[in-house]
Amino acid sequence: METEVGGGLNRDLFGKNFKWGVSTAAYQIEGSHDKDGKGSSIWDTYTERKNKILNGHHGRIACDFYMRHQEDLALVKKLNIPNFRFSTSWSRILPEGTGTVNQKGIDFYNRIIDTCLENGTDPWLTLYHWDLPLALEKKGGWTNRDVISWFAEFTEICAKHFGDRVKHWMVMNEPMVFTGAGYFLGVHAPGRTGAKNFIPAVHHTVLSISEGGRILKDMLPAAEVGTTFSCSYIEPYTKRPKDVNAANRIDTLLNRMFIEPILGLGYPEKDLPFLKKIGRYMHPGDEDKMVFDFDFIGVQNYTREIVRNSFITPYVQASLVKARNRNVPYTSMGWEVFPESIYEMIRKFNAYKNIKKIYITENGAAFTDHLVDGAVDDVDRTNYIKDNLKQVLRARNEGLSAEGYFVWTLTDNFEWSEGYHPRFGLVHVDFETQQRTIKLSGHWYSGFLGGANDQAAPDLNCENSTLISSIASKS
Ligand code: BGC
Repeated sequence: METEVGGGLNRDLFGKNFKWGVSTAAYQIEGSHDKDGKGSSIWDTYTERKNKILNGHHGRIACDFYMRHQEDLALVKKLNIPNFRFSTSWSRILPEGTGTVNQKGIDFYNRIIDTCLENGTDPWLTLYHWDLPLALEKKGGWTNRDVISWFAEFTEICAKHFGDRVKHWMVMNEPMVFTGAGYFLGVHAPGRTGAKNFIPAVHHTVLSISEGGRILKDMLPAAEVGTTFSCSYIEPYTKRPKDVNAANRIDTLLNRMFIEPILGLGYPEKDLPFLKKIGRYMHPGDEDKMVFDFDFIGVQNYTREIVRNSFITPYVQASLVKARNRNVPYTSMGWEVFPESIYEMIRKFNAYKNIKKIYITENGAAFTDHLVDGAVDDVDRTNYIKDNLKQVLRARNEGLSAEGYFVWTLTDNFEWSEGYHPRFGLVHVDFETQQRTIKLSGHWYSGFLGGANDQAAPDLNCENSTLISSIASKS
């Protein structure tokens, strides 16, 4: 079958062992927020607060994945996607955060894992994708040092119940985003603000990530254990030293602050002096406890940021120059479309000599979609994925580690404070009816993945397959 699409892009060029996948997260898709003994999480209550989420949206139903996971995992199979990344909801498994285990929560994740395996899909499990049990937030959440032992308990339970079948683990998703947005800016759950919350949350998160890594590796020595980081390629607005220094501070905050202590390099406080405040929360021995040698690092990149000096911004004295003010293409998140960013981030993470392996565990884009006659011709998203893949290939051809690529995301879903407005899915969801429609991007990814496997031509069974082949051949 013809697999040549996107100007010479071909699955074979990435090699036989390259991991292709799709990523999801519990709160964004599951719904059933209080079903079968699930406890509340910080996102359940944050979304009830006034004016926190665009249009007052919430995840109480979301994509109804709790009830429809069979159908959605069948879609993963149908799309020829060999690896499915999902996260566990801590409060579904431990309704109070610690203590009594909710067997129905364990059963649910067992069903996901077993269905994946029956379908020939490899399950990749992220322990924590931002939905802390409310009971723990009431005790201080990530600002309370006890969170390290709470998280350790949760990690052990997941390793014990799922470790016989799950071979790829990620401890956490994007710690910078949930601590920055949730504990500094207050625009994500739990809605706390200021350095007094952010600084301890950062340190306890670092310690929990490395502790989680140690527990998984001790209990499951054969598993591949990693953790993921968000990152953006940072460039200064001008060559003026003030802007260059501002860009360096933002790069330190967004791209270095979490990975470096875990790699044994300590917090990068020379480049961002306000991190010295972490010292107040350091206990003897923490320098060593922060370090863990992960089997892989998940790099998650969507865009680049342009940074200028700003006297009025506390702590970092820098501000971001929005894409819409720069006359560049951008997505419905307002993020610049700049595929070279992913190449630059692969290079940056490869430069750390003690990172063993890198997977791109998230990359994708939100654009306005139009469902017309049962089809969504999301050419922009399809091109975004192709162009980013070309940059991943460029990095690989230079001998850099980038051993897998996971599209964010399978179905349109709850996009945190933006509600359901931005659509990132390969599959369109009508949130009134829960009807799924594979978008052009989904068909493209499916064809791309199906062909190089030497499998039969994918069963697109689709309304617009002619359109897809014509676009594929033109690009
Ligand atoms: C997160 C996802 C999110 C996506 C798009 C990543 O930062 O892991 O939860 O939906 O980006 O914003």
